[in-house]
Amino acid sequence: MSPAAATGPTLHRPALVVLDSPEAVATAVAARLLRHLATEPRPVLGLATGRTPLAVYDRLAAAHGTGTSFAAVQSFNLDEYVGLGASDPASFAHYMQRHFFDRVDIAAGQGRVPDGTGDPATVARDYEAAIAKAGGIGLQLLGIGTNGHIGFNEPGSAFDSRTRLVTLAESTRQANAPDFPRGTEVPREAITMGIGTILEARQILLVATGAAKAEALHAAFHAAPDPDCPASALQLHPRVEVICDCAAGRRLWSA
Ligand code: F6R
Repeated sequence: MSPAAATGPTLHRPALVVLDSPEAVATAVAARLLRHLATEPRPVLGLATGRTPLAVYDRLAAAHGTGTSFAAVQSFNLDEYVGLGASDPASFAHYMQRHFFDRVDIAAGQGRVPDGTGDPATVARDYEAAIAKAGGIGLQLLGIGTNGHIGFNEPGSAFDSRTRLVTLAESTRQANAPDFPRGTEVPREAITMGIGTILEARQILLVATGAAKAEALHAAFHAAPDPDCPASALQLHPRVEVICDCAAGRRLWSA
């Protein structure tokens, strides 16, 4: 073993659950979130947008319909496009309102998304302060980009990065173009929680479905952590769970 390896950080393997279908993944992820809420008097969730968690929010809304309360929950979303406000249907604030906040009894103002219309440096600083004031994030939900991004931390992001203004990778802009009206440009910049911010969550739940995520998941956990694959930073965290379907997990250890 080289001296560098001998003194390097401790690396961890995530707990892995591979399920048959995206529907089974959504059910398991929602159940995991609900278990967390049941054990925490004042839960603080980190939340994600994108296609993957849509069915999770459906299940959480259904749980609310059968009596689960989200009144004690505070949440912090990972990211937002610069320039988009909550009234813009392509914004993540609008997505969260539509798919989650409006469907449960989370208290007004307790579901937070970085403000894409504010001065980015101020928004980022205030967001970090609000997370700290809430006592830190108890459970962080993450998706993964095909390029290994988590939040909008694109390849090359430092593992100790904090909430900040970032430039989106072209592949990310293309992947998210269907969420924008035809002829509208996908913003080039975003505000995202940093990798360092994400790693401070006490527990992390990474969710992936579909064959397009298989390479990114493999790169995240089957090689040494490397900023070229931002999700590989999750190896530095002792309490990461990965819930994925067989298509996304086909290149992981036991799948
Ligand atoms: C979303 C986010 C992104 C997505 C990722 C996967 O808030 O931060 O990292 O989780 O781009 O997106 P989907 O689920 O659409 O494949």
